[in-house]
Amino acid sequence: MTNDTDTPQNQTELMEDAVSDKELIFGWEEWVELPGLGLPAVRAKVDTGARSSSIHAFMIEPYGRTNKRVRFGVHPVPERPDVVVFCSAELVDQREITSSNGETELRYIIRTPMRIGGQEWPIEISLTNRESMQYRMLVGRTALRDTVIVDPSLSCAQGKLSLDLYDDLPKTKKRQSSLKIGILSREPNNYSTQRLVEAAEAKGHMAKIINTTQCYMNITSTRPEVHMGGKALEGFDVIIPRIGASVTFYGMAVVRQFEAMGVYSLNSAAAIGAARDKLYAHQLLARSGIGMPDTGFARSPKATNELIKFVGGAPLVIKLLEGTQGRGVVLAETKKAAESVIGAFQGLKANILVQEFVKEASGTDIRCFVVGNKVIASMKRQAEEGDFRSNLHRGGKAFKIRLTKEERATAVKAARVMGLSMAGVDLLRSDDGPKVLEVNSSPGLEGIETVTGKDIATLVIEYIEKHARPPKVFKPKRL
Ligand SMILES: Nc1ncnc2c1ncn2[C@@H]1O[C@H](COP(=O)(O)OP(=O)(O)OP(=O)(O)O)[C@@H](O)[C@H]1O
Ligand SMILES: [Mg+2]
Repeated sequence: MTNDTDTPQNQTELMEDAVSDKELIFGWEEWVELPGLGLPAVRAKVDTGARSSSIHAFMIEPYGRTNKRVRFGVHPVPERPDVVVFCSAELVDQREITSSNGETELRYIIRTPMRIGGQEWPIEISLTNRESMQYRMLVGRTALRDTVIVDPSLSCAQGKLSLDLYDDLPKTKKRQSSLKIGILSREPNNYSTQRLVEAAEAKGHMAKIINTTQCYMNITSTRPEVHMGGKALEGFDVIIPRIGASVTFYGMAVVRQFEAMGVYSLNSAAAIGAARDKLYAHQLLARSGIGMPDTGFARSPKATNELIKFVGGAPLVIKLLEGTQGRGVVLAETKKAAESVIGAFQGLKANILVQEFVKEASGTDIRCFVVGNKVIASMKRQAEEGDFRSNLHRGGKAFKIRLTKEERATAVKAARVMGLSMAGVDLLRSDDGPKVLEVNSSPGLEGIETVTGKDIATLVIEYIEKHARPPKVFKPKRL
């Protein structure tokens, strides 16, 4: 830690980078341009009494694999709080800096070019909260190259810059700035989580894994917030919920809270909830005319016979609603077997559904990975010899497959009916066309990327880039 100093090496570097130019006179205040940060006009106080320079910044966060960059917001114009620019810059250090009022603070130091009087050279700037200060930027001694002569009796010796320049910053839909993406997951090392982080970072975004169950929130506050480890989670543009079945209830509350904060969620809490409630999901899909195996459910043992009739008699499939990965999915070959399995499950007070057995699927189901209104990848899963359940966890094997037009349309429609932007739609190929088994709101990437060789994580990130609502701020323009 150094106290308000630059190391000699840094200074030498700065000098070397500077192209020698003619003499520049600085007054005690000057208008500067910070092109690397997308700031066209900043009124700065020139203070030769201060060693280092600083700029007002908030939501300061280092990012990237090795934290070599930092992202932050700037309100460059004190009188115009509506102007917000999100910047990113090379992070060179973290140092203790003592400000003029004697307070010492550990600050991030960035390196970025400063342009003034037709000259441009790189300077180091510390990031700090200068909200209450009259000047959003302070230019200290180390930022003054040797062509600069300071005359404290002058003001704006290099001329003024117009604040109207901020009005010209593009408020385009197309995003130029990087997104801050939160991946809600309890498993940081999970393949899907890792791939999403990798793909986001490769496209210049910042991705943070947020452990869903570690989040807590004050839901009565008028300003919704989500906290973790004593800190508010701030500045997220997007969240990608990867909510495991066992934490659906809590996970949905966390997603809802982010939604209340105006953060774009790839899948909404409502859609995740609908997909997780298997009975409701079946009702929604059926109502929209999507092909599904004939299905019935009942609580009372008295209804067993009727239920078996609904689905066309044995053989039939009985499913425990709480089951996943093929556990709790039973094939009853005869009516007798069906009656006894249904009776046994009901005796255990388990929720079940009874379904027509789609024999012609011959132990194969099809996973369609839907993003937006497209199936971006698909695979078929073939059950192990002697099983009808094609789950990979049950020894099933996965292969590439070409979908029919009808299968594509069915998968896309199923995702849309459920309100999911990203979904894994499982289909069976039946004699009467595709039948939807299930719509999954957190489809895994490993199997499908491996089988298809497609970079699904990148396709997901690209979808987010197009759909994340642009924040109501001025985007930095590379000047
Ligand atoms: N009605 C059916 N007819 C034929 N095969 C079926 C039927 N239902 C399920 N299967 C087979 O059994 C497998 C497991 O069923 P399902 O996907 O419904 O349950 P699960 O995988 O345990 O639940 P989840 O997919 O929610 O984790 C399916 O992938 C499919 O191969
Ligand atoms: Mg399944």
